[in-house]
Amino acid sequence: MPKAVIVIVGITGDLAKRYILPSFYHLARHKKITDFSIIGIGTREITEKQIMNNMKGFLAKKDAAVLKKMEANLTYLRGDVTELDTFEKLKELVDEKKGKGHNNLLFYLATLPRFFVPITDNIRKTKLDKEVDGWSRIVFEKPFGDDGRSARELNKHVQKIYSEKQVYRVDHYLGKELVRNMAVLRFTNTMLEPVWNAKYIDHVQIHLHESLGVEERAKFYDQYGAVKDVVQNHMLQLLALTAMDEPKKLHEKNIRDRKAQALSKAKVTDCVFGQYKDYKKEPGISARSSTETFAALKVSVNTPRWKNTPFYIKTGKKLKKKQTLIYVQFTNSSCHLFDGYCPLRPNHLVISVQPDEGFYLTMNTKEPGTNNITQIKMDFRHENKFGPKTPAAYENVLENVLKGDQSAFVRSDEVEHSWDIIDPILKKKNKLHTYDHGDIPKAAKEMMKVDGRSWFI
Ligand code: BG6
Repeated sequence: MPKAVIVIVGITGDLAKRYILPSFYHLARHKKITDFSIIGIGTREITEKQIMNNMKGFLAKKDAAVLKKMEANLTYLRGDVTELDTFEKLKELVDEKKGKGHNNLLFYLATLPRFFVPITDNIRKTKLDKEVDGWSRIVFEKPFGDDGRSARELNKHVQKIYSEKQVYRVDHYLGKELVRNMAVLRFTNTMLEPVWNAKYIDHVQIHLHESLGVEERAKFYDQYGAVKDVVQNHMLQLLALTAMDEPKKLHEKNIRDRKAQALSKAKVTDCVFGQYKDYKKEPGISARSSTETFAALKVSVNTPRWKNTPFYIKTGKKLKKKQTLIYVQFTNSSCHLFDGYCPLRPNHLVISVQPDEGFYLTMNTKEPGTNNITQIKMDFRHENKFGPKTPAAYENVLENVLKGDQSAFVRSDEVEHSWDIIDPILKKKNKLHTYDHGDIPKAAKEMMKVDGRSWFI
């Protein structure tokens, strides 16, 4: 791993203490990074020791030597990121670290998106974007923009300062092991690709369920809602990986080209919005809030591969169980083998992103001693084959930035297309259906029923 100075803007925030700092800790513990310094910027009066203590609550195992080293390599800079003065002080610190051989510079913007422009302006003014003796990279947390127009403006602004090779737009779902596995699953198993199309696939469902409510993120969430929070990014990335055509090579550029192409052809044709019961009574939520905490969308992907095969997306807070999966239902063409009835359920492939990472395919078989047909599962459990631990998504994300691998990050055109898909539905006034905790709105069940289908979960 290259030696680097890592500047975390927003180091006192929730994201830094829950995900970013623990991931650096794990990378250091696994000796994936050995020589690094971290400079954290924030507005609070806080010491390096307190920052480390706040993070420790999110570590399962605490290795004293690694924690000590990390604390020794951490410098906190208190300042307002909209002020040039903060970046002049930062430059002095960075120069000092670079003097020690840490020549690469990584900015990780774990701040509110409204600070992206002033921060990058200050980076440019202090020339911290320049690649002198090493690389200079920048990581943006989501949301990148607020709609298609603002995402395009932000891309234009950033591209005046950085080249696309230096820019890493995080979608932590792309760091999840089973998501990283999707291109390999689809394109290296030759029996899948010939049937991965409208002729053999009846429809696809993508689910991202959460059992928790808004918790302590009420203020942020109430401005965004489910569609901007997880559909525009995580779920459309899952759709892109499922729908994309075969890339020339399993290489970051080719995969991103194919994902962008699929996203550019996707369109929402129906949607149901919901809000969980008593959401408006949650601390920090407006009593008149019309924010959706649930969304079910029907999406068409207008490419020859997917003509007439719909993609259904479903997400919500306060659902029964935390679970993310992709369900691919094959057509039930073998029914013509029977007279006037069909004893078969169609084959389906389930890619389970979390929990229970893995995938399984259902097949038909005869029950012994009878002529009945039953379905069995050909089941791959990640844990059984590779052990219980897969690296946390954020660990993969950070490791890839340091290595300069952009495959787990979203390119400018993908972000823009994703906003273009959801902008039209967000501009409409959508009816908001209340749903009980652990259930989904009736209208969402109805949406599938009218298509003669039902939700897998
Ligand atoms: C985040 C959303 O991007 O993803 C959260 O802002 C959501 O609202 C989270 O809870 C889900 O991520 P994961 O990895 O827990 O499935």
